[in-house]
Amino acid sequence: MKITVIGAGNVGATTAQRLVDKQLANEVVLVDVLEGIPQGKALDMFEASPVEKVDVRVVGSNTYDATAKSDIVVITAGIARKPGMSRDDLMNTNCAIVRNCASSAVAVSPDAIFIVVSNPLDVMAYVAMKAAKLPRERVIGMAGVLDAARFRSFIALELNVSVEDVNAFVLGGHGDSMVPLPRYSTVAGIPITELLDQQAVDRLVKRTRDGGIEIVNFLKTGSAYYAPSAATVAMVESIVRNKKRILPCSVYLQGEYGLQNTFAGVPVKLGRNGMEQIIQIKLNPDEQAALAKSAADVTASIGKLQM
Ligand code: APR
Repeated sequence: MKITVIGAGNVGATTAQRLVDKQLANEVVLVDVLEGIPQGKALDMFEASPVEKVDVRVVGSNTYDATAKSDIVVITAGIARKPGMSRDDLMNTNCAIVRNCASSAVAVSPDAIFIVVSNPLDVMAYVAMKAAKLPRERVIGMAGVLDAARFRSFIALELNVSVEDVNAFVLGGHGDSMVPLPRYSTVAGIPITELLDQQAVDRLVKRTRDGGIEIVNFLKTGSAYYAPSAATVAMVESIVRNKKRILPCSVYLQGEYGLQNTFAGVPVKLGRNGMEQIIQIKLNPDEQAALAKSAADVTASIGKLQM
């Protein structure tokens, strides 16, 4: 198993380290445009391996030759929004970056499964799928696992229970209109709507929606990476070990949930073939409307892309 992580910044490097620690591949390749950064971080990580007793070759590179024949490619490359930059400016800058990364990577790893992490997530997953000309089963966006992990953390804090017993579901795009589903969010199997009043549920839903910005407001110079990398690695693990976990992932919808030709987060079975199934659950009219609105926001952004 060979895994390439493109972008050796906070999310990419932390993802690579988690992959190495969990020994999910024989070889992990870190790629970045910055000279020396992927090489230095990869060597540093490899030098930890005798101490950690893990046999994983870690390689850093500024080009794609070293990534040839990867089984999985994780794209975390991109830039953060700078002062004076609109969301659309950011989208088009990251679009050019992700397009370049996806087409360069697929040229030497035509059979790879791509996991996209760069933001704006659902739009970047679309860009990667188009640029790499891949079937939808092999381009999967990471957002729902992170959003659900945040929701789970907040539920556990609120009820003072172990995070282990908390499950949560979040659908839709990775943005302000994401759709946390309290009805399907449980503590030891009990829906949180039975354990918390509506006001508390609404508060936790709002905190989940604002989970990314909460971290940015603390860090000031960057965005979250511990939870995003953990969520990415959970998806990689389900693919590598063919676990067939059901995880909320952003995938290209072709009629599922009444949505067409757009990326949005839905429950997906992840196995060795990538996205193996989209699980369709019955939504109530409010939930369906919220999901449709969220997907419409993604479609509108895709329409503004300068591809
Ligand atoms: N090819 C490869 N790497 C690139 C390219 C490119 N064309 N363009 C930029 N990069 C690299 C940068 O050099 C940088 O090292 O991507 C890396 C991004 O790292 P950070 O700035 O630390 O950003 P990070 O916090 O890792 O977030 C990366 O993931 O969660 C999302 O919103 C986040 O879109 C952002 C992405």
